[in-house]
Amino acid sequence: MKLNIAVLAGDGIGPEIVAQALEVTKTVCQKFGHELTYKEGIVGACAIDAVGNPYPQETHELCMQSDAVLFGAIGHPKFDNDPSAKVRPEQGLLKMRKDLGLYANIRPVMTFPQLLDKSPLRRDLVEGADFMCIRELTGGMYFGRPQGRSEDGNTAYDTCVYTREEVERILHLAYKYAGQRRKKLTVVDKANVIATSRLWRQIAQEIAPQYPDIETEFMFVDNAAMRIIQWPKSFDVMVTENLFGDILTDEASVITGSLGMLPSASVGIHTSVFEPIHGSYPQAAGKDIANPLATILSAALMFEYAFGLMEEGKAIREAVTASMEAGIVTEDIANGGKAYKTSEVGAWIVKYLKK
Ligand code: IPM
Ligand code: MG
Repeated sequence: MKLNIAVLAGDGIGPEIVAQALEVTKTVCQKFGHELTYKEGIVGACAIDAVGNPYPQETHELCMQSDAVLFGAIGHPKFDNDPSAKVRPEQGLLKMRKDLGLYANIRPVMTFPQLLDKSPLRRDLVEGADFMCIRELTGGMYFGRPQGRSEDGNTAYDTCVYTREEVERILHLAYKYAGQRRKKLTVVDKANVIATSRLWRQIAQEIAPQYPDIETEFMFVDNAAMRIIQWPKSFDVMVTENLFGDILTDEASVITGSLGMLPSASVGIHTSVFEPIHGSYPQAAGKDIANPLATILSAALMFEYAFGLMEEGKAIREAVTASMEAGIVTEDIANGGKAYKTSEVGAWIVKYLKK
């Protein structure tokens, strides 16, 4: 098979972790006889520095012409600490999501037996937890307008908007995934307070009878935040709006033991994007210490979701598991043992795949 991908490493640790995921991708292509071509593009703070635009048209065209995008991370402290900056790296990520029509962000949350003792939660609570958060990605408060400040600068506002069409398509997608898993869908909202949430709940109630074999559960987001910690095993597929999904998935990552472990797939109308859920971790940039596993696992999702290559995805997952079993891990999950470099972990996984 011919695989034509765009590689957007971005900022901070992005280039280091993407380099490892790219080597893994190349190795898997060699092993399974696929022809890989890839092109690199700029996005985020590095694109602002280079051309003044965090998602340049050239990068967009590259993504549109590719079959999949492997993405690192974006963000830089010089923007975080300057609320008055006119152009921000995050705008590049949001524009990419919008322009590629990536309305669903799929974030699998699973535990790794080797990391159970890294989780701040008790082993019996997290062992076997395995759910999927489907986050709406191109609507809600992230994109609603008006957004801004009053003239005197003392009032600020955001607008949360959802249309029926946006809610319907993400719910159908969530039901599809629930149908392939343990057949339970939790719709997370704040329908007791927020109008958009009431629209979500109404539409979900309308759609649910079309999926009689799937159990639909409704949950307020504050309660969901609590339950993710108290009883993570009660979830199978969870679907929610953009901002709630952003917050709940960072929370869910602590179950795993490290934010450096969780991959994601953003899918929708045009080319799908595969990226770790963590950010650009600027404190670690250039130090070769960041955990590359979330990005390597995102490459596994890329083989499966973008190309339907299940064996290839599985091979990557097995190699990742083997690296953890062998203790070849970065400092965030070393658990007092020897901490390996980003590049050493990547090289070990590549070597394992070549066996
Ligand atoms: C994520 C990130 C982004 C988001 C930031 C970097 C804009 O936190 O992908 O979860 O809020 O969506
Ligand atoms: Mg986030």
